[in-house]
Amino acid sequence: MLIVLCTGMSVVLPSLATAGVKLKNLRVEMQNEPLGLEIKTPRFMWQLSSHNPGLVQKSYRIVVAENPSDLKKQENLLWDSGEVFSDNMLFIPYAGKPLSPGKDYYWKVRVKTNQGRTDWSDVKKWSTGLGDGYDWQADWIGVNKMMNHGETRDGHTRLAARYLRKEFDARKKVSRAVLYICGLGSYEAYLNGIRIGDAVLSPAPAHYTVKTYYNVYDVTGMIGKGCNALAVVLGNGRYFGLMPGMEGYGLPRLKARLEIEYDDGTFGRVVSDNSWRASSQGPVIANNEFDGEEYDARKEFAGWDKAGYNDSGWEFADIMQSPGGKLCAQATPCIKVMEEISPVSVKLVADDTYIVDMGQNMVGRLQVTLSGKAGEPVSFRFAETLKDDGSLYIDNLRTARARNLYIPAKNGSFTWEPSFVYHGFRYVEIKGVKKIPSLSALKGKVIYDEMETTGSFETSNEMINRIYRNAYWGIRGNYRGMPTDCPQRDERLGWLGDRATGSYGESFVFGNALLYKKWLQDIEDSQLPSGSISDVSPCYWKLYFDDVTWPSAYFYIADMLYRQYGDKSGIEEHYGSMKRWIEHIRKVGIKDGIVVRDQFGDWCMPPESQELIHSKDPSRKTDGRILSTCVFYDLLHLMDKFARMTGNEADGEEYLLLADSIKKAYNKMFFDIHTASYGNNTVTANLLSLRLGLVPAGHEERVFENIIKKTQQEFGGHISTGVVGIQHLMRGLTDNGAEDLAYKLAVNDTYPSWGYMVKKGATTIWELWNGDTADPAMNSANHVMLLGDLIIWYYENLAGIKCTEHTVGFRKIEMAPCFPEGLDYVKASYSSVSGEIKSEWRKSETVFDWKVTIPGNTSAVIRVPIKFCREINRQDGMRNVYKDRDYWVVETGSGNYRFVK
Ligand code: BGC
Repeated sequence: MLIVLCTGMSVVLPSLATAGVKLKNLRVEMQNEPLGLEIKTPRFMWQLSSHNPGLVQKSYRIVVAENPSDLKKQENLLWDSGEVFSDNMLFIPYAGKPLSPGKDYYWKVRVKTNQGRTDWSDVKKWSTGLGDGYDWQADWIGVNKMMNHGETRDGHTRLAARYLRKEFDARKKVSRAVLYICGLGSYEAYLNGIRIGDAVLSPAPAHYTVKTYYNVYDVTGMIGKGCNALAVVLGNGRYFGLMPGMEGYGLPRLKARLEIEYDDGTFGRVVSDNSWRASSQGPVIANNEFDGEEYDARKEFAGWDKAGYNDSGWEFADIMQSPGGKLCAQATPCIKVMEEISPVSVKLVADDTYIVDMGQNMVGRLQVTLSGKAGEPVSFRFAETLKDDGSLYIDNLRTARARNLYIPAKNGSFTWEPSFVYHGFRYVEIKGVKKIPSLSALKGKVIYDEMETTGSFETSNEMINRIYRNAYWGIRGNYRGMPTDCPQRDERLGWLGDRATGSYGESFVFGNALLYKKWLQDIEDSQLPSGSISDVSPCYWKLYFDDVTWPSAYFYIADMLYRQYGDKSGIEEHYGSMKRWIEHIRKVGIKDGIVVRDQFGDWCMPPESQELIHSKDPSRKTDGRILSTCVFYDLLHLMDKFARMTGNEADGEEYLLLADSIKKAYNKMFFDIHTASYGNNTVTANLLSLRLGLVPAGHEERVFENIIKKTQQEFGGHISTGVVGIQHLMRGLTDNGAEDLAYKLAVNDTYPSWGYMVKKGATTIWELWNGDTADPAMNSANHVMLLGDLIIWYYENLAGIKCTEHTVGFRKIEMAPCFPEGLDYVKASYSSVSGEIKSEWRKSETVFDWKVTIPGNTSAVIRVPIKFCREINRQDGMRNVYKDRDYWVVETGSGNYRFVK
């Protein structure tokens, strides 16, 4: 209860909770009630809201117990943080008694605020994983031979799925049952015929000789009294190599441990060993993520996943070698079906052949209900676009066959979707059915790593909205337990350079922190002892070029996780490995004081002729040494920050000294003081030098003028950068006052532009600016790297939703949108780790109206242009208002605010 005194001050009665203040979104390690955490000191977080503005947390208290009743009574607590006087609500580490492996834990939190105290939160649970060194007492098992016709591990691999089963007795009432399972490459598990969980393509991919991930499922309700059956199908995933030149690790294998606790306090367990039965003669006769899945329904084992099945014809499972890597609980959520869409049309194109149009380039699978004839195959081929004659355009898939096959067991209707493959597609060719499939019989299942959609964004400009939607589809379509370059052709790899800055923009749209945190580990796992980092991680292609621009993603992503989410663990955990890489580049990459190693240049800059993939014109191409030197210089500053955060100050000083000497050598070599330009005066060369701080003081304006001149005069107001330059373009222009030019680039629909892709029918973002005309060897229609800093610009510069410099996790928000000429309104929201931030502005000759929402226990500095808003109406929650040149600066606490003309 809150007593309001007549002075307007308020006093809180300490023992009573205030209904208006609410705790929300309680998380452990960023997840709601996660299972199988291996971290010894899991970190808690929450959000706060209230109807009244200016909410500030004064203190918190967290309690943890082994069961809900202890927690309720506050007895036998494992941890009682006591009242901690702090406004922090992010990443508060557990500091109680040591946690045991494989157990459930319960927690709750209560906070005091300037508006009163909350009730205790709901009780939340998490469980611990088995941890490093735990003896699973289980073997790796599988079928250690290739016995089916056509199976091969050479070239494009072909292999049938493995079926493994084990029956067991549960004689008493089960009080808790947990399955720990790693099925490589991918698995589907069943208990008594029921699918365990709804994840697909699990576990997350890894560099398996260094690491393998297992998943954890609570299966308490799935075990019955009496005889039970645990059944697992193994697909190839990324473990069994997919194609020539791609790292393959071996035949699929399973390790599982089912722990059962009975009501009477006794325990049981079922582990993978050679008493399991195994077969590779089941219905999935082939599966390869690039080539497709083949399913022969005539080979189904009816009832094999239930108890009582006669498996006497099956062999005993083979004991397989351990993959070699450390077995760790997967700390990022699994891939799931996140949305279902229906096709927009089905057309007959030839005898028994139909083309389905999903209306959207999507990533996932098609579930079909069709009618077929026993033994007559129905085939499905997937493509992103069509040829002029209406047939599939598959040239850009390169060698990926992207073809599924289903052989019905009997005449009549069947429903099927594959288990171990996915496709990037808008169109599907279905061949072999006699009757036209109805739209309702076809479902597009969109799959990607389970995560929240955190952003919404809309403007008065339809082109911007369309580009945003294309980006949304492209980003989520390229999450497959790692961020991939593309989802359709024979590549689908975690290319570092594509995400160096993109990951930051993506973090506004999706809660991608755990995925990217996992990817940092992939990068470290793929690092060589020399310190060299593979440009692709996990290193299914081994590309140790010792360039800088691609590996820079490692550093930028760790920093992104810190700034956007407030999570510094990426920096702490990888500092040593980052340092090894810095030292390595220092050794192998520096000559004449600058960094000379570069591999890809300003990759995919728009070429002079639209048929080319890469430009041949030297005047358009940026010297690779400029790219690597600028980026390395920036990384040294980042490393100084990381060094200070991790208690390595001495390293930091050294990095800054090195950075200084690099800057001098760089300017000596590349800066033309007369023309104020770098190298051959490309936008990318000047932009990187300017944005990353290499331009000698006093010359910044003239360097910037060159960027404008080049863009406007030589490129007719168009983009001239590739993957590296684009990472800075929109913010670079805007921060230096050319927001209208940035806006022009954002809405252009002529080549090269994002709008050009839209005009040509794209529903995702292309790999190339000229993706419609260039050689199919490299024209994926679903890449995200050319987004550069566009999404950051949408949120930070158009909507004005930005975490204040030098603060993290949106506890302090800076709202300073630019209001480009021609844009009438923006409506955006972002569910940050600290709560939901909203910005909605509208302007015209006569109207200015800007509504802002700032979440509880955060603060904001809002910059309102005086030209739009002559006066600021004082509103509750505002702390300070003053003028700074052309702006009102409004400092607020949480709440809803409105600024009108
Ligand atoms: C990939 C890119 C990647 C590039 C680097 C391409 O094949 O699709 O996304 O960054 O190679 O060379």
